[in-house]
Amino acid sequence: MRFDVLTLFPDLFAPFVEQGIMGRAVQQGKLDVCLTNIRDHARGAHRVTDDRPYGGGSGMVMKAGPIVRALGAVERISDRCRVVLLTPQGRLFDQDLAWELADLDQLILVCGRYEGVDERVLKGFVDQEVSIGDYVLSGGESAALVVMDAVGRLVPGVLGSEDSNREDSFEDGLLEHPHYTRPRVFEGREVPEVLLSGDHERIRVWRRAQALKRTLERRPDLLERARLTEEDRRILSELK
Ligand code: ADE
Repeated sequence: MRFDVLTLFPDLFAPFVEQGIMGRAVQQGKLDVCLTNIRDHARGAHRVTDDRPYGGGSGMVMKAGPIVRALGAVERISDRCRVVLLTPQGRLFDQDLAWELADLDQLILVCGRYEGVDERVLKGFVDQEVSIGDYVLSGGESAALVVMDAVGRLVPGVLGSEDSNREDSFEDGLLEHPHYTRPRVFEGREVPEVLLSGDHERIRVWRRAQALKRTLERRPDLLERARLTEEDRRILSELK
């Protein structure tokens, strides 16, 4: 899968793209990350990318021209391609949208800055607006990193074992059970006995119950959409 990022700050992306799971996937050719500096598509001696808002008001607005020309310069490798603008006005990003985007061959992420982007970019040049949460960032760059991380790890072969994302939080709509590793006792706190028992069925049931308990306590809203089995419903009614 190929990610294209249109940004005024391409240098922000290097450490992320070169290291960790993303770095390995890029080296192995499973993911491709292409950075475009929007400023390279601005005109005039000063290569201005923003301007004052029509109608007045504070802050600056990103000009349509440089963004649209930058989009035009991005090579389209497939019809299965989507142009996404990162903005707090967009659809809230979640695991379902991550799966949907991971099915594409190419995802073009446009990072806004300043107060916003000229509305005319949104009509005809952008397929979807996406927000990573109900808070305001200084720009779309950190949001683009979040989207690339969550989507990239769903691309087949990116994670070491194909299964390791199936057990993650949110894959079945629940929060994850707690994890423990050595030592057995840390500052007087012991690992739950069941995890040392070697009884795989007991461990499975315990983990599931913990995941349900956490979700009930911390994110009861998730339970409404979670994929629950008969066993889950029984555990939940005992917890309640
Ligand atoms: N740009 C500024 N805030 C943002 C947010 N919450 N999500 C996506 N892009 C943004």
